[in-house]
Amino acid sequence: MLLSGRGSNFAAILGAIERGELLAEVALCLSNRADAGGLTTARERGIPAVHLSRPMVASDDAFSAALLTALTEHQVDLVALAGYLKPIPSAVVAAYRGRIVNIHPSLLPSFGGAGMYGRHVHEAVLRAGCKVSGATVHLVDDGYDTGRILAQSCVPVLDDDTPETLAARVLAVEHRIFPQTLARLLSSTSVD
Ligand code: GRF
Repeated sequence: MLLSGRGSNFAAILGAIERGELLAEVALCLSNRADAGGLTTARERGIPAVHLSRPMVASDDAFSAALLTALTEHQVDLVALAGYLKPIPSAVVAAYRGRIVNIHPSLLPSFGGAGMYGRHVHEAVLRAGCKVSGATVHLVDDGYDTGRILAQSCVPVLDDDTPETLAARVLAVEHRIFPQTLARLLSSTSVD
């Protein structure tokens, strides 16, 4: 599990595991932010929690190597990006091809790419006058939000929506489709 913030998707995944809907174990929770709420959640549950960010090491290559080492040391099979706001180094994408999954709060390929995260996504959806939005679970490749789409679910955009009300409606969908998609992936042989 890689995350940068509060970790509500991480909590939803833990809930799905507890209910037996997702047969998995979270081997590692890694964040680029020491104060990420998700790291606290991990520590409370006895899940290894690691803070690792690019500025902590000397070079991009050193960061890539440290990330790979953390994943392999904890025997991670599938990497879930649950609100991880940093790019994944290409060496890590190559080592885990087809096994890194991201959740994005729009219907990709719309409203994805650099700068499209958090509130910015929902502001752009409202600005464009869309009548539907939603969430996308996709594989991670070397691009930004460009990997193969695994699941999507729609929500209506209401006339009086604000970025906050729309974000909350999309987040509820994220919490459902992310664990479901991970469960599907883990029960299938391989995806690439
Ligand atoms: C979610 O909206 C997710 O789609 C995006 O980052 C946000 C993370 O939220 N990639 P949380 O930390 O899981 O609450």
